[in-house]
Amino acid sequence: MAQGTRRKRRDEIKLTIAPFQSQTDYKSAVDIQREVWKFDDIDIIPPSMLLASDHIGGISLGAYNNDRRNGRFCVQFPRTEDGILIQHSHMLAVRQAYRNFGVGYRLKLAQRKESLKRKIRRSPGRSIRCSR
Ligand SMILES: CC(C)(COP(=O)(O)OP(=O)(O)OC[C@H]1O[C@@H](n2cnc3c(N)ncnc32)[C@H](O)[C@@H]1OP(=O)(O)O)[C@@H](O)C(=O)NCCC(=O)NCCS
Repeated sequence: MAQGTRRKRRDEIKLTIAPFQSQTDYKSAVDIQREVWKFDDIDIIPPSMLLASDHIGGISLGAYNNDRRNGRFCVQFPRTEDGILIQHSHMLAVRQAYRNFGVGYRLKLAQRKESLKRKIRRSPGRSIRCSR
């Protein structure tokens, strides 16, 4: 897509990126996993697991419309590498209708910002596949 067109489309979409706060936020991640990856029930990370991950230092972020509907999200699990706490970026998904507006990029920047806020300064040395 041409840069000018991308910038124009990016300006059209007003979103707030924030950590998950409510049960609705965690549940929305289930709908998005089904829609984006076509996961079977057994493959879906359930709200309880995402909540537990966030309780121990993980970061689940949503990108919200004005009506606080979440159509995109990313999830990071905490883990250590060589004894140093890092964030394993596990899932990033943007619903089809919102793609190529720069939302995925903004979610990645928000992950970085949130990690730095928590004094996590190192990226993982290895990556693990997040989908089938
Ligand atoms: C990957 C994804 C999150 C990108 O979201 P997005 O909001 O459209 O991303 P942006 O608008 O910020 O960036 C779009 C750019 O990423 C590129 N891109 C999209 N999917 C990509 C992929 N799997 N690998 C490499 N680049 C990809 C696009 O081609 C586009 O490139 P361009 O800027 O050169 O035109 C979205 O396509 C998605 O949800 N895909 C399905 C799930 C997935 O593969 N998640 C990533 C692994 S967990």
